[in-house]
Amino acid sequence: NKKKDLAGKTIVITTGGTREPLDPVRFIGNRSSGKMGYAMAAAARDRGAMVRLISTVDLPESAGMEVTRVQTAAEMLGAVKNSVKGADALIMAAAVADFKPSKVASEKIKKASASLDLKLEPTTDILGEVKGKFVRIGFAAETSELIDNAERKLDAKNLDIIVANDVTAPGCGFGSDTNKVTLIFRDGHMEDLPLMSKREVADAILDRAVPIFAPMARV
Ligand code: PMT
Repeated sequence: NKKKDLAGKTIVITTGGTREPLDPVRFIGNRSSGKMGYAMAAAARDRGAMVRLISTVDLPESAGMEVTRVQTAAEMLGAVKNSVKGADALIMAAAVADFKPSKVASEKIKKASASLDLKLEPTTDILGEVKGKFVRIGFAAETSELIDNAERKLDAKNLDIIVANDVTAPGCGFGSDTNKVTLIFRDGHMEDLPLMSKREVADAILDRAVPIFAPMARV
């Protein structure tokens, strides 16, 4: 892709799975490798955008991007709030924890009794919290009722596009180098993309996002 159709645009991208600490050595996490968001970031960079990547992981493909490292959902929220100032788009490829331990033990939790009850509390929804006049793209990783669940998130999070991936399908979702997604747009139309590399998925998403940028241009 040789197009520089994102020249002059600033795009904030999140990637990786957040880690919510339980004690100094343990956390609650998920299987996100960060590959999808890094592919989004590389595609946007190569198309001329200024990329602000907020990531829980370090991957090699990071030249020409501004990378902010975070661990928890709360840190990611703070970094997103800072980064969206003056941005043209927010693309949330990260798998953000929905719950975090209510208390973080200051010492390593000891193996004491037969069972251990963990109390969790909800994290803040980043897309729900961060408002502003920029293109909003979310991802949804689902194990059932892919389209219904993704449509609900598109509405609830006020998105322009949601990228729905059925993470139970082979070669899809967490950790793989490929992905197979359905794009659902704000006006309700949908597009099924074939299985392809995460970089190709990223370029396909940007192809659909570019026309949304123009009417939303900042004044
Ligand atoms: O990193 P990889 O191994 O390459 O895997 C890629 C991926 C499967 C993680 C990615 O393609 C993906 O689907 N990311 C979204 C994961 C997900 O299930 O998100 P969600 O359904 O919990 O949330 C929906 C949207 O809201 C997402 O854009 C998410 O970033 C955002 N969100 C979620 C929780 C929260 N507290 N704040 C948010 O903004």
